[in-house]
Amino acid sequence: MSKMEVKTSLLDNMIGVGDMVLLEPLAEESFIKNLRKRFDHNEIYTYIGSVVISINPYRALPIYTPDKVEEYRNRNFYELSPHIYALADEAYRSLRDQDKDQCILITGESGAGKTEASKLVMSYVAAVCGKGAEVNQVKEQLLQSNPVLEAFGNAKTVRNDNSSRFGKYMDVEFDFKGDPLGGVISNYLLEKSRVVKQPRGERNFHIFYQLLSGASEDMLKKLKLERDFSKYNYLSLDSATVTGVDDAVCFRTVKNAMQIVGFMDNETQSVLELVGAVLKLGNIEFKPESRVNEVDESRVKDKNELKEICELLGIEQSVLERAFSFRTVEAKQEKVSTTLNVAQAYYARDALAKNLYSRLFTWLVNRINESIKAQTKKRKKVMGVLDIYGFEIFEENSFEQFIINYCNEKLQQIFIELTLKEEQEEYIREDIEWTHIEYFNNSVICDLIENNTNGIMAMLDEECLRPGTVTDSTFLEKLNQICADHQHFESRMSKSSKFLNDHSLPHNCFRIQHYAGKVLYHVDGFVDKNNDLLYRDLSQAMWKANHSLIKSLFPDGNPAKINLKRPPTAGSQFKASVATLMKNLQTKNPNYIRCIKPNDQKASHIFTDSLVCHQVRYLGLMENVRVRRAGYAFRQPYDACLERYKMLCKQTWPHWRGQARDGVEVLLKDLQIPEDEYSYGRSKIFIRNPRTLFSLEEQRKRRLHGLATLIQKIYRGWKTRTHFLLMKSSQVTVAAWYRRYAQQTKYKKTKSSAIMVQSFIRGWKARKILRDLKYQKRCKEAVTTIGAYWHGTQARRELRRLKEEARNRRAVTVIWASWQGTKAHTELGRLKEEARNKTLVYITWGWYGGESGSLPSFQARRELKRLKEEARCKHAVAVIWAYWLGLKVRREYRKFFRAHAGKRIYAFTIQRIMQKYFLELKNKMPSMSPCDKTWPARPYLFLDSTHRELRRIFHLWTCKKYRGQFTDQKKAIYEEKLEASEIFKDKKALYPSSVSQPFQGDYLEINKNPRYQKLNSLVEEKIIFADIVNKINRANGKGAQRIFLLTKSKFMLADQKSGQQIKSSVPLAELTSVSMSTQSDGFFALRVKEGTTAAAKGDFLLNSERIIEIITKLHRAGLDLTKEKIQIEITDEFLVQFKQDKVCVKFIQNGPKNGTMASCKRKNNRLLEVTVPSP
Ligand SMILES: Nc1ncnc2c1ncn2[C@@H]1O[C@H](COP(=O)(O)OP(=O)(O)OP(=O)(O)O)[C@@H](O)[C@H]1O
Ligand SMILES: [Mg+2]
Repeated sequence: MSKMEVKTSLLDNMIGVGDMVLLEPLAEESFIKNLRKRFDHNEIYTYIGSVVISINPYRALPIYTPDKVEEYRNRNFYELSPHIYALADEAYRSLRDQDKDQCILITGESGAGKTEASKLVMSYVAAVCGKGAEVNQVKEQLLQSNPVLEAFGNAKTVRNDNSSRFGKYMDVEFDFKGDPLGGVISNYLLEKSRVVKQPRGERNFHIFYQLLSGASEDMLKKLKLERDFSKYNYLSLDSATVTGVDDAVCFRTVKNAMQIVGFMDNETQSVLELVGAVLKLGNIEFKPESRVNEVDESRVKDKNELKEICELLGIEQSVLERAFSFRTVEAKQEKVSTTLNVAQAYYARDALAKNLYSRLFTWLVNRINESIKAQTKKRKKVMGVLDIYGFEIFEENSFEQFIINYCNEKLQQIFIELTLKEEQEEYIREDIEWTHIEYFNNSVICDLIENNTNGIMAMLDEECLRPGTVTDSTFLEKLNQICADHQHFESRMSKSSKFLNDHSLPHNCFRIQHYAGKVLYHVDGFVDKNNDLLYRDLSQAMWKANHSLIKSLFPDGNPAKINLKRPPTAGSQFKASVATLMKNLQTKNPNYIRCIKPNDQKASHIFTDSLVCHQVRYLGLMENVRVRRAGYAFRQPYDACLERYKMLCKQTWPHWRGQARDGVEVLLKDLQIPEDEYSYGRSKIFIRNPRTLFSLEEQRKRRLHGLATLIQKIYRGWKTRTHFLLMKSSQVTVAAWYRRYAQQTKYKKTKSSAIMVQSFIRGWKARKILRDLKYQKRCKEAVTTIGAYWHGTQARRELRRLKEEARNRRAVTVIWASWQGTKAHTELGRLKEEARNKTLVYITWGWYGGESGSLPSFQARRELKRLKEEARCKHAVAVIWAYWLGLKVRREYRKFFRAHAGKRIYAFTIQRIMQKYFLELKNKMPSMSPCDKTWPARPYLFLDSTHRELRRIFHLWTCKKYRGQFTDQKKAIYEEKLEASEIFKDKKALYPSSVSQPFQGDYLEINKNPRYQKLNSLVEEKIIFADIVNKINRANGKGAQRIFLLTKSKFMLADQKSGQQIKSSVPLAELTSVSMSTQSDGFFALRVKEGTTAAAKGDFLLNSERIIEIITKLHRAGLDLTKEKIQIEITDEFLVQFKQDKVCVKFIQNGPKNGTMASCKRKNNRLLEVTVPSP
């Protein structure tokens, strides 16, 4: 969104009047009052039309910030309150956009702020013009030329701590886009007398102090200078420092600026050497030396200083010394050398110093110009800035003031001419009738000074060039003669009788009535200063210098180019340069800045009316206003005017649709302003009287109040209405939300109540159903129970009946049986009786019949037996039947008994769990490796013991399975390994390494190896073990290799070399024990039973790597043979029987340095030491 453009005007919030043209009434008093009022409100700028009056605030005001630059950029001149930036912007824009060359003329008295104003203009233009690396460098060089020129051309004076002691005109050149290309500086009349003498309270040019304060010790030494100001005659001591200014810092700034501007290091050095030389010149003193012809001749007092100057400048000392003592005058090819007296020598010295410095200054300006000059030959647009000394009226005014005031007179002339011209041009442009303007034309004063025939300057030149004695009084006399009649010239000797009584006019003075006031000039020094002579001997001495810069400064010293013509006088030179300047200015569009100094104390906030009044007068500001107001006091473009005052008329407010001019016409008519008060130009309305404008402004102000009230009213109405509508809509929203909330709450409440009621009813219903169901269930249960009881009763009854039946049957059976029995018994008895009778009969018969009598008793018995058997069977049948019936009844009724249900469920559950457990276990079974110790986690606590038992069983089973794979051979090997483990595990250090080695037994392959064929034939039994061992000699402990053979019943030692001879053969039954150490050695002792043949030599001490296998096999064989275990002793110290001796075998662990093999040594009769390397 673009920023809303607010049209402002100079007339807004004005303090006093911003433009003096509007001052009412116009008088000097009101003019000063207006300036003072504005000054008191920090408004230091005031316009007179397009001229800016600037009052020095003597303090930093916050009105030169980048924001201010932006504020004034591209704004119309009268749009904002008066400011130097407005003028700079106007000038720059008309240069850039309208292709008009500009000049900015800054005038005012010393200390009024001219130099500051010129810097502000330059900095503004630099800020608003184009940018880019090259452009920025040009800008920087232009801006940095200031500090250099200020250091060499400015000095502290009583009026200004940084007073410009030269006039400066700088042309800044721009290209068609308005980008700076370069510049040209012109300088006017440096006040060189300051080099040798400064008035009280003032000091020499800044550079001297800056050099002495800021230069390094090294540099000072090179320049043959001392830091102490008091060492130099040319430096006044009473005000050698400037408050608030650090000369040392300034020196660095100047050096830096010189570098930026483009000075080479050697150039800077040369410049400083010249500055040093000037300082030292002041220290040269002269003494008179009497000569024969009684004329005093000057001589240099202390030649040391002279010598140093000569060294510094590369001049031959004698040449310079002579130049200070003699003067050569050349006339008509004749050279006349005259001696100089002391006064003349001093004059010559000072002249040299002044000349040297002023020429150096001019060289500096030229050098800067060389650097800053535009690099293109294309047409350029030019903006000139003139910072020149203002009109000066001192108590004692001399040649310099005369020259300066002449310059100001010329500037005033051009100012009036151009202002009037511009005014006139504007009237013509705007088609307004031109009315004649009365004003004071100072050309008559200019004429008095510059007229070529009888002007004061011409007079002075004439006097200077005239042969014969020429003094300042002869010059005054001449003036008195020639200018006496001039109305602006006064002198005591003037013929005009009216001044005869004027005692304020001394004899050696003349007075000129300048446009700005009367100035009294003392003629003393006019001739000399105008002549500005430097003795040729001195310029020649300088030319001879071996210093390129100084040589270039004195081209007139070159004897080859001797010019007998006198050089132009200072006055004529100045006149010529002023004329050039004026010509230059006339071609440009002028912009004026009139600087005013508010007080003499250089203090802020002090406004001395008389001082300001004086300046207003001599700057001709009142004149300026009058000229500006002569026709029409105020003018404004139609659209701006309409924009500003349109609210005063109904037709033009708020919008005027037609042409702006017509709008203004309607407006002015409506306001009933008399017609002679204004005129219609082409693009502007011209208002004759400021009063009319103020009345318009007043009406506008009142109307604005009304409008503001209206706007306020409408705004307030709008605001309140908006607020009301907002409140209303908010209220509706709030109400809606509240209603919704209330309804929601109510609904929730109702819903929860409904749910609660519903739940109660449902609960009640459910309980009722539950009750019914329970009742039904109970009924069913009761029925069941009753049924069960009934069935039980039935069953029991049936059982009882059946039992009864069975009992009855049994009883029947028993009774039957017993009846049968009884019957049988009776039958038996009967039969017995019968038999007996028969027997009796038989007996009787027998008695009669013999052997056949035995037959009936046998039959009877058989019959009895059969009967008994039959009875028994029947009884058994009855019993079985009864049991069977009982079983049947129980089986039938078991299902009616619930007591078994729990047990069955329990059994079923347990069955299921077990089933699951076993199935899971089946799936998670660990591997079949007996070493695999993993076992699934127990699922139930109650299965803990089962689980453990299963694990144990499984392990045993896997072991069994594993064992089942073994062949007998392998089994035997493992048995052996197991046995070895039982014997050696955790007892002998060698054991772990033997575990992985399979027990091979016959290492020598006695059966197959033809080498041992004989030995094989000597051993009848199967060889269990055969290997080479080391037998320890009982006498000395040394080892000898033997074949160790083990069979089921004995062990043998055979000679290893022949392999045939059995040296010892010991039955295993004669072996009592085996001893060995706990360590990793292979020594073992085989103890033999005392009294046996083998024991004759004593126990065997052997050494073998396969000790574990040997001992295990020995142990096994011994056990198999004798069913008794061979005693195995594992200890590091044991006794053995060697023949008659009991020898202690001691095992000592030693460091690895003693070899990797265990060694054995017989120490004495009692001790045999085995050294075992540590593992
Ligand atoms: N606009 C300003 N704001 C603040 N201080 C200012 C302003 N103008 C001038 N001054 C102060 O006044 C002093 C004198 O100003 P400046 O050197 O511009 O005077 P001048 O007119 O050039 O005098 P001279 O003719 O002696 O060279 C400055 O050093 C500065 O301290
Ligand atoms: Mg200045």
